[in-house]
Amino acid sequence: MAAALSAAAGRRSMAALSGGAPMDTPQKNNVTVIPTGAALGADVVGVDLSKPLSDETFRQIEDAWHSHLVLRFRGQQLDDPALLAFGQRFGELDSAPIHAGKDVVNPFPQITVMSNIKVVGKPLGNLGHYEAVWHTDMSYNDLAPIGSLLYSLEVPPAGGNTGFSNMYKAWDTLPAALKKQVLGRYCRHDSSRNSAGELRKGGTEVTDPRDAPGAMHPLVRTHPVTGKKALYVDQIYAVGIEGLKDEEARPLIDYLARHITREEFACRLRWTPGTLVMWDNRICVHKAFNDYDGHTREMIRTIVNGEVPA
Ligand code: OGA
Ligand code: MN
Repeated sequence: MAAALSAAAGRRSMAALSGGAPMDTPQKNNVTVIPTGAALGADVVGVDLSKPLSDETFRQIEDAWHSHLVLRFRGQQLDDPALLAFGQRFGELDSAPIHAGKDVVNPFPQITVMSNIKVVGKPLGNLGHYEAVWHTDMSYNDLAPIGSLLYSLEVPPAGGNTGFSNMYKAWDTLPAALKKQVLGRYCRHDSSRNSAGELRKGGTEVTDPRDAPGAMHPLVRTHPVTGKKALYVDQIYAVGIEGLKDEEARPLIDYLARHITREEFACRLRWTPGTLVMWDNRICVHKAFNDYDGHTREMIRTIVNGEVPA
C-alpha cells in the first residue's frame, strides 16, 4: 500500500519536473486578456507562471482578476512550489486546508489535493462528490478567503467543468424590495458542514441555524478594490440571518440561493491538464460538475487568506 500511495503522490512531482526555468530574470510582458464573453471569466495568455513575474505583469494580472473575477491560464507547468509562489503574490496563503488524503505526506501545508482518485480504497485528496453545489470557499471563517487557485494535473476526457457565478450581477439584479430587506443584514455561515452539505466529524446538529458555529458575514459585501457591492450567500454555508426568525430567514436564503444560479450570471470553464484557474472568492460562487464517473480528475489548490467581509 505504501508503494501504491507513493506512486500516486509521485504523479504530482512528475508534473513538477518539467517546470524548470531560470528563477532570476522576469519574463517579458506579453500578457493578453481574453474575456469569455459570459458574465465573468477571462483567459490570460502570454504568461508562463512558472517563471518570476515582473511587477508590471503581476499588476496586469491583478487588474484583470478584479475586472473578470475568474482567470484561466492554460498550458502551464506548475509544481507545488510554483503554484505557491504565484499564489503568494496575492496575499498570505492559508496553511490549514482540509486533507482527506491523510495517508499521503504533504510537504506543503498550503496545498490541498482535490482528487477523486482512491488508492487501496482511500481517497487521495478531497473532492469526489464534494464541492458540487454553488458555494464560496471557507466562508465560515471570520477572515473569509479572498481567492482560490486551482491547478489541474489530470482531467477527464469530457465533463468535470467548473461553474462560476458573478455576485455583483446577482446583487444588481435583485428586486428593489429584496435589496432593502438584505442590505445591512448579517448571515451565519455554518462551519459544521462540509461542502457536500454533510455534517463534519464532531459537528453537532442545531435546531436554529442561527446557533450553528461559524462566522457572521454581511449578506451584501463591498469589494475593497472595486468598491462595488455583491451578494454574499451560497447554497451550503449560509444558514441563518441575524434578527430574523428561522421561518423568515429560510425562504429568503432559499430565494437568494436560487437567484445566484441564474444562467446569465454564470460561466462554465473547461479544463485541460496544466490549467490554472483563480477566482475571487468574495465576488463569485462556484461549483464542480461531477459528471465524469469512471475517469480521473486530480488538481491542487491553494487559498489566499482572507479579510473580514465589509
Ligand atoms: C474548490 C472547488 C471545484 C472543481 O477547489 O474549491 O470547489 O471543479 N473546486 O474542482
Ligand atoms: Mn470550492
